[in-house]
Amino acid sequence: MRVDVLTIFPEYFSEIFEFGIIRRAKLAEIVEINIHDIREYAMGKHNMVDDRPFGGGDGMVLKPEPLFAAIENLTGASLRDAYPMGTRVVMLTPQGKPLKQAVAGELATEAEHLVLICGRYEGVDERVNEALVTDEISIGDYVLSGGEPAAAVLIDALVRLLPGALGSDTSARNDSFSDGLLDCPHYTRPADFRGMKVPEVLLNGNHAEIEKWRSIKALEKTRVARGDLLTGENGDM
Ligand code: ADE
Repeated sequence: MRVDVLTIFPEYFSEIFEFGIIRRAKLAEIVEINIHDIREYAMGKHNMVDDRPFGGGDGMVLKPEPLFAAIENLTGASLRDAYPMGTRVVMLTPQGKPLKQAVAGELATEAEHLVLICGRYEGVDERVNEALVTDEISIGDYVLSGGEPAAAVLIDALVRLLPGALGSDTSARNDSFSDGLLDCPHYTRPADFRGMKVPEVLLNGNHAEIEKWRSIKALEKTRVARGDLLTGENGDM
């Protein structure tokens, strides 16, 4: 998968993909992540990327011209219907569709080329959404100062789902949410730490019993922490 990130703060990403699974996935050429400064596509002698909102109001709005130029350059098209197959242009915004494991799964499977736009200020000129954006995604019901942390979250959630990114493919399948439940608790050595003991069932090597215990604990944990996942109030996962 190729990922292009459009941001006015490229330095934000200078180290964030240099750790663990994402770093390994990049080295193994499972994913290629390119960071682009929107200012490089700005026009005029002042390299303006934002301007005051029509109709008045606080804050600044990201201008359409640099984003159209950037996306045209990265996808070869300036209308979403003309993108090559497998191209998705995602706007990170609190107005977007909530990011769930199923949304990450769909993008990881369908998208070969992902362009992520990190919104800023009061917003982005709506013509960018109308003409260029295929998906608007929110990482949660809170407002960040910009889309950068959200882009990093989305990339992390996607990369671990790409074939070969994890050591074994069972680890992704056992993640929280992959079966609609939170993950069960995990323990490692020592079996007795300051008098806190690891549940006996995990020590006895009976794999059928261990699996049963894990299912029960996952269900218990989900009921206590996220009852909405069990009652379906949460919508699709
Ligand atoms: N930009 C600002 N807040 C955001 C959020 N909650 N999700 C995605 N992008 C955002």
